[in-house]
Amino acid sequence: MTNLNMGLYFHWPFCLSKCPYCDFNSHVREKHDENAWLDSFLKSIDFEANRFQDRNISSIFFGGGTPSLMSPQLVQSILEKVQKHWKLPSEITLEANPNSIEAEKFKAFKEAGITRVSVGIQSLNDADLKFLGRTHSSLEALKALDIARSVFNNWSFDLIYARPNQTLESWESELETALKLDPKHISLYQLTIEQGTAFHKLHARKEFILPDEDLSADLYDLTTAITRKHGFNDYEVSNYAKPGFESAHNLNYWRYGDYLGIGPGAHGRITTDHKRATRQFKSPESWLDALKTQGNGYQDIDILTLEDIRTERILMGIRLKEGVDIQDSNLSKDKLSALQNENLAILENNILRLSPSGRLKTNAVLDFILS
Ligand SMILES: C[S@@+](CC[C@H](N)C(=O)[O-])C[C@H]1O[C@@H](n2cnc3c(N)ncnc32)[C@H](O)[C@@H]1O
Ligand code: SF4
Repeated sequence: MTNLNMGLYFHWPFCLSKCPYCDFNSHVREKHDENAWLDSFLKSIDFEANRFQDRNISSIFFGGGTPSLMSPQLVQSILEKVQKHWKLPSEITLEANPNSIEAEKFKAFKEAGITRVSVGIQSLNDADLKFLGRTHSSLEALKALDIARSVFNNWSFDLIYARPNQTLESWESELETALKLDPKHISLYQLTIEQGTAFHKLHARKEFILPDEDLSADLYDLTTAITRKHGFNDYEVSNYAKPGFESAHNLNYWRYGDYLGIGPGAHGRITTDHKRATRQFKSPESWLDALKTQGNGYQDIDILTLEDIRTERILMGIRLKEGVDIQDSNLSKDKLSALQNENLAILENNILRLSPSGRLKTNAVLDFILS
């Protein structure tokens, strides 16, 4: 097992407000006890080091929630503790919101050890930012990206498109503006309506309408064409990188590598005698309690069956442009033929890839594979 790579994920569960589209494990709290969080993260790292000190950490990711609300000191203490047990990897990402106070902390995050930021811009249009419940303006977003560029060599940002009333022309102009900022990486997600969110209720009441299937397809094709024109590799369904700037951390998920998930609700996949799926306690309070009572945040650790492993490997890998090797897979011949006959996927030398129309219907393809 020595030197086997693994990613390391830390979840920061707090946000200043809840965005109406978001179903991530994020909570709004007036305040939190910084020392309790520091102790719990450090204790979690010691717990993992006892079991996995012989591994190589290939990437670290602070996700959320809004990790840019963490204090740079907390991030630094976490990284120092990691460094006591392992060598730090070159890619250490922190997700950031573009509110001005957080952008002003970017330099301090770099000094704390962060090497890459991923900024949640979502839109460059003020009316749509308001619709998305964001607390920043497009001007603040642009300023935050200026700071990101001046502080980090490796930086990325997210936009959400296929928004109500969005036309091909308006998206083209917004995306062109975004790419002129010259990011190394960009994540472009079509707006999805998730169960349990405020948008789910509003959408059910028809208070807004999403672009229909044809327009969504055209928006996706346009996105691919524009990002390619600007020299980006569309290496995953919603992720685009300048050569060499693909996210190592996310690639490890999609290639079904091992990773430890630390923090409220964090998931992990880790192989010892078996491959196991892990999940930590979801609410911030129950996670802190678990650290006190059991010395780690785990709620569930389940051994994955060979069947689970084969299915998960396909579900993750098919999202990648490079595709997924299905030689040992349990995908039935009927399903494979259906995917190819419907022109959703391409099979070549045992590598299964989504076709351009399959990429657009990724969720439907994944549901079909699981059915
Ligand atoms: C954990 S969230 C972002 C972190 C950070 N708190 C922020 O809001 O900027 C990761 C990204 O997922 C995307 N996202 C979340 N919910 C989405 C949805 N329902 N539809 C499309 N994209 C979504 C957003 O682009 C968001 O930046
Ligand atoms: S999108 Fe980001 S800021 Fe908004 S609720 Fe989700 S995690 Fe928090």
